[in-house]
Amino acid sequence: MDFGGSAYKPQQYITMKNNYFIGFFIFMVFGAALVEADATHAETLSISCGAVGQELEFCKTGAEAWAKKTGNQVTIVSTPNSATARLALYQQWLAAGAADVDVFQIDVIWPGILGKHFIDLKPYTNGIEKEHFPALVQNDTLDGKLVAMPWFIDAGLLYYRKDLLAKHGAQPPKTWRELTETAQKIQDVERAAGNDKMWGFVWQGRAYEGLTCNALEWVASHNGGSIVDARGKITIDNPQAATAIATAAGWIDTISPEGVLNYAEEEARGVFQSGNAVFMRNWPYAWSLAQGPESVIKDRVGVSALPKGGTDGHPAATLGGSQLAVSNYSKHPQLAADLVLYLTGAQEQKRRAIQGAYNPTLIALYQDPEVLAAAPFMGALYDTFVNAVARPSTVTGIKYNQVSNEFWNAVHSVLAGKTQAQASLAQLESALKRLSRGGRHW
Ligand code: GLC
Repeated sequence: MDFGGSAYKPQQYITMKNNYFIGFFIFMVFGAALVEADATHAETLSISCGAVGQELEFCKTGAEAWAKKTGNQVTIVSTPNSATARLALYQQWLAAGAADVDVFQIDVIWPGILGKHFIDLKPYTNGIEKEHFPALVQNDTLDGKLVAMPWFIDAGLLYYRKDLLAKHGAQPPKTWRELTETAQKIQDVERAAGNDKMWGFVWQGRAYEGLTCNALEWVASHNGGSIVDARGKITIDNPQAATAIATAAGWIDTISPEGVLNYAEEEARGVFQSGNAVFMRNWPYAWSLAQGPESVIKDRVGVSALPKGGTDGHPAATLGGSQLAVSNYSKHPQLAADLVLYLTGAQEQKRRAIQGAYNPTLIALYQDPEVLAAAPFMGALYDTFVNAVARPSTVTGIKYNQVSNEFWNAVHSVLAGKTQAQASLAQLESALKRLSRGGRHW
């Protein structure tokens, strides 16, 4: 057919018009089939997500929305609840160069450990990372590469039973001592009144990463530092840290069940949400479940910053949270990056904040009235999130998990009554020195 120079003759025009008609008809009739045929070019991506609380469900609904929008498919790979077990699994998969997981949900402390297995996302982001908290973006940048995109922030919070505090004329505690006294008093009176399952305080005491988070809060809030300082110096063997850990050891079997030595996040939430604890230390996700339709403590829960250690101390919350990264071994890196940008984008972060109490990493969402109405603590405790204490994962790099492992074991042994706090921290300091050759080689 010649589409060159000369004008169409009328006859040709009519033929063309008919062709358009026939074309339109064919499109209408076979359109669905054509779309279907296109779908054969669709890819299936796989994303690995955490499964604490509603994590897996939210990851699934978000990924499915992306799949629907782009005509692709997504498989969700569930992982163990414990951050420590999840890291071990990821290290195995990634060391083997496995291509079966395209997108990884990674902990805020893992970029240094796993970063070399992830692609640089910068070429895909169009600068959107500038709208996220700069500290998180910096945390996810390794040798100039953006190895992950921030997804949600965690910070340790104190959950309390508003109704029980009011009933017993108590205020949310400002110091650990006040928490201990209030917990003991309410526990004793409630038990005497027949509620023999009542405990004062539940938290994460199992020997895993969650205990590092809890214990760092006790230590930092007593001005005892953050295990290793930002320059790599080991600082954990100090009297304030010893006081902090000895105080926590005093809770075992007084205001906290002995079982707390084996609790992670969900075990603590289980006790609190069944109505059997006055206080709980947990991450923001616990809010939306405590407020859920099934919860027996719905509308009876308050959230505040964690207590400080004595009058000289200051409240300290450990910084946690998740990022999304694309594996170097993915066969579809561009598509995987698109999924990461969708999940970490404003629409999805807003949905997750409102429905699941996942704190956004996009700064603007902290001004969003719907977000603030669904999870009021996100506004009221904004400073807690912004000033949260980082674990020493950047400075210790690939050795962070060993540092944390030494720390949680040293603390666990004090909690279990096997070692004295001061002696345990002195031993820990020596172990960390060996690991880092005097703190010089992290
Ligand atoms: C939460 C936090 C994470 C932390 C973990 C410890 O998942 O987001 O940063 O390492 O809890 O259990």
